[in-house]
Order: sequence, then structure tokens, then C-alpha cells
Amino acid sequence: MKVLVTGAQGLVGSRFVELYKNDFELVCPTIEELNFKDKTKVTAYIEKLQPDAIVNFAAITDVRAAQAEVGNLDGNTWKTNFGIPCLLSELANKHKIKLVQISTDLIFSGKDTADASYIENEDLSKQDEKKISFYGLSKLAAEKYIKENCENYCIIRITYPFRSKFTKTDFVRNFIELYDSNKLYPMFNDNAITPTYIDEFCNVLNVVLNRNLSGVLHVCSINSTSHYEVAKYVLEKTGRDSSKLVTIPMKMFLEKITIIPRAIYTAMDTKATQQITGISFKTWQHYVDEMLSQN
Ligand SMILES: NC(=O)c1ccc[n+]([C@@H]2O[C@H](COP(=O)([O-])OP(=O)(O)OC[C@H]3O[C@@H](n4cnc5c(N)ncnc54)[C@H](OP(=O)(O)O)[C@@H]3O)[C@@H](O)[C@H]2O)c1
Repeated sequence: MKVLVTGAQGLVGSRFVELYKNDFELVCPTIEELNFKDKTKVTAYIEKLQPDAIVNFAAITDVRAAQAEVGNLDGNTWKTNFGIPCLLSELANKHKIKLVQISTDLIFSGKDTADASYIENEDLSKQDEKKISFYGLSKLAAEKYIKENCENYCIIRITYPFRSKFTKTDFVRNFIELYDSNKLYPMFNDNAITPTYIDEFCNVLNVVLNRNLSGVLHVCSINSTSHYEVAKYVLEKTGRDSSKLVTIPMKMFLEKITIIPRAIYTAMDTKATQQITGISFKTWQHYVDEMLSQN
């Protein structure tokens, strides 16, 4: 199966390439070789390549940089995170290609309690968009466009991804790096998140492509946690002193410190995804242990 992968050099996509390069014919142009915002070049490239599937990892993922462009529909964030999926969707329809879009929990405006979670087919039409960052809004708009227009799509939502060592720091490794450089900042202890082990995501993407699965899927841990809990676990597991950690309620951070909107409770439910894929997801502790054992 020939698969065009956008953003294949990034944190998540590069791991899929590492693990599955022998299972698919992966075509992975760099941004210098093909900027996916260039409609004319992308159209010609896809017409010539005729892939069976496209996996779209390409995105502006720096939430702070994205927020600096808030409301700007001609800016890099919107043109990348919304414009590219729209173009790929149109081309996918035209050439009967499957489109896999990678999405995020930052599209959610947040549940009311820590024990609530989002299901794959959650109705997102009545969200309070003031509670969503510009990055989140651009990814939400992409999801909406794909759901309404793309004939053969799968949207895979991931959240706080982490993996074996890579040039870019991930969610888990960040705690270790902050500790080692004496730059630990206060960690949220009241939020609810379900981090994604990237190897498990790759496993799911492999199944999605091979079985042509469609709809919306969630790939993350089966239990929820907070930033503080994960930081404490990681520092202790790696022989570091977790008593150096201090905490801050995320609610206070949102009210007093940041101007970037962000939801507090964004845990994702995975029951439907596990059933459809036949893969049993694990706890975040299990995934962190597995990730640490790889380095
Ligand atoms: N990281 C997270 O915390 C997180 C969480 C949930 C969901 N996601 C989603 O997962 C996907 C992958 O994220 P990631 O963490 O792997 O991101 P990443 O490390 O920032 O990688 C994104 C890749 O996209 C490329 N890219 C950006 N604009 C492009 C363009 N116009 N044409 C071609 N390539 C372009 C980037 O190239 P350059 O680096 O050269 O610009 C980079 O290689 C994204 O869709 C993201 O929204 C990420």
C-alpha cells in the first residue's frame, strides 16, 4: 500500500515511519521538498503519485505561536492546520484516496468534572469556543470540514504524546529535562488528561490503514491523570527526587497567569476505538514504563 505521509519528520509521524517503513510504501516529502500549503504543487504531486492513503501529521503545533495569530484566517496556523486538511480532503475525494487526519484533545472546551470523558462521537457543535485556543479551533475546524466533506476518512485524536528518544522533547521527557536543568515549574494537580503513547498510536494507525477503518478514533491511556501525577511518577521511576515538585491548580493558572484558553478536563474515552480495532489499551503508567525501558 502506497501511503503519502505529511509532517513525517515530526515527533509523532517520524515514529510511525521508524516502526512501519517495511510494512507500507511510505512517501515522506520534507517541507522543503513539498510545502503542503502550495495547492498547485500538492495537486500535481498527488496526481502523479496516486497514493492509496494520505496520513496528515503536518501542523503548526506550537500553541503559543498559534495564539499570536488568533483570528487571522490568512496566517500560517490557519492555512496549515485548516487549509491543508481541506485541500487533502478535496484531492482524496477526487482520486479515491483514504485520508487519515491526526487530531487533538485541544479541540475540546472541557468537561465539567474530572471523571467525565469525551467519547469518539461526541457532539461538539455546542462547545464554548472561548475556552479553546486558536490552535484548537484550527484543528476543530479541520475535523468539521473532513467529517462533512471527505468520502473516506479516519480522524485519530491523540493527546500529550510521548515516545522513545527523539530530537524534539515530548510530554514525559519534558519533566526529566526540566528537573535536570533545575527549571521545574509548578505542575497542574487538578486537571484530567489521558496521555498517548506514540507506539500504541502507530499500532492503531497500522490497523486503520490495513483494514480501511473510518470515523473518529481515540488513542490514549485507559485511565486519566494530571500533569503532577505523571511528573511525580516519571521522576521517581528514573531515580530523581519528586519532592522537588510543586503544584498549582490549573484553574488558578487559567484565571491569573495565562491568556491562552485551555480546558481543564479533557480525558478521552477509548472503548469504541478498542472495540473497532481489537487492540486493548493500557494505563498511562504501563505506557510510561514501556517508554522508559526503550532508552
Ligand atoms: N505534539 C502534541 O502535543 C500533539 C498533541 C495532540 C495532537 N497532535 C497532532 O499530531 C500531529 C503531529 O504532531 P507532532 O507533535 O508530530 O508535530 P511536529 O513535531 O511539530 O511535526 C509537524 C510536522 O509538520 C511539518 N509541517 C508543518 N507545516 C508544513 C507544511 N506546510 N508542509 C509540510 N510539512 C509541514 C513540520 O515541518 P517543520 O518542522 O519543518 O516545520 C513538522 O515536520 C499534528 O497534526 C498535531 O496537531 C500533536
